[in-house]
Amino acid sequence: MSRPKILLTRRWPSAVEAVLAERFDATFNTDDLPMSPDAIAEALRTHDAVLPTVSDKLPASVFEGEIRAKVLGNFGVGYNHIDIAAAKAKGIAVTNTPGVLTDCTADIAMLLLLSVARRGGEGERQIRAGEWKGWCPTHMIGSKVTGKTVGIIGFGRIGKAFAQRCHFGFGMDVVFYNRSTVDAAEAARYGARQLATVEEVLAASDFVSLHCPGGVENRHLMNASRFAAMKPGAYLINTARGDVVDEAALIAALEKGVIRGAGLDVYEAEPQVPEKLRAMENVVLLPHLGSATEETRNAMGMKVVDNITAFFEGREPPDRVA
Ligand code: DGY
Repeated sequence: MSRPKILLTRRWPSAVEAVLAERFDATFNTDDLPMSPDAIAEALRTHDAVLPTVSDKLPASVFEGEIRAKVLGNFGVGYNHIDIAAAKAKGIAVTNTPGVLTDCTADIAMLLLLSVARRGGEGERQIRAGEWKGWCPTHMIGSKVTGKTVGIIGFGRIGKAFAQRCHFGFGMDVVFYNRSTVDAAEAARYGARQLATVEEVLAASDFVSLHCPGGVENRHLMNASRFAAMKPGAYLINTARGDVVDEAALIAALEKGVIRGAGLDVYEAEPQVPEKLRAMENVVLLPHLGSATEETRNAMGMKVVDNITAFFEGREPPDRVA
């Protein structure tokens, strides 16, 4: 029996590609160059499965016409880059990779919080530029983290893991906003307490960290009025999705001193990062590194293997989202 024909849009960890090559008739992106939506549309017409990742774009237009693909095995937990309704209309199943990137993404949020509060990026730049004049009582004074209040927007797996680190690691008071009510006893396991509105969380927090999904429902959740509702001197951390933040409003809030700083791992138009953000010393910028550890990227890839193997064996894929 012929093996399903699959296409990977980017290079994946080699151990995962080896398993895929054994089980499937696999086309790899050996140059690792991003594929255009047109190239992805062509792949959907010529392969049984396409395995995209979070930096690809799959708008409704890629699903037009005759499609051969029956499943999209997304390498990533977020799937706001895929027009799910259009995929569904063509009878295409979509899977993602939840769970395995929780800890590493929460770790990156903690790294950003600590770096921006304690001016880690600035300090490193100063030393590398050969500009450090030595210790003195007024040098590069940051903001204390231990004991402060952190506000979490979105209390899913990653929000909870981040709360745990903040509360049990740094003695922080943790409040959060979540669309649905979280059982108070469950929240208490993470040292956290739910508030009724985003505004209440913003008003209470020295640090605000975003952990909600991207896409239309949360687009520009952080806008000019929400920045104005933050505590004076507070910081924003974003490891969720770039479109959750109105980047122009963020830049204005930083320029006017409405907020004190930001730690960002995601951007509205990746890989473009606005020049104004790149010029600000009080902003820590990472290139979407949340899940970028050997362990996690291998685990994400193996989740895709499990999902598409189940699909082609006629079983329900464990992480089906559509
Ligand atoms: C995801 O899986 O959605 C992450 O953004 C990748 O790190």
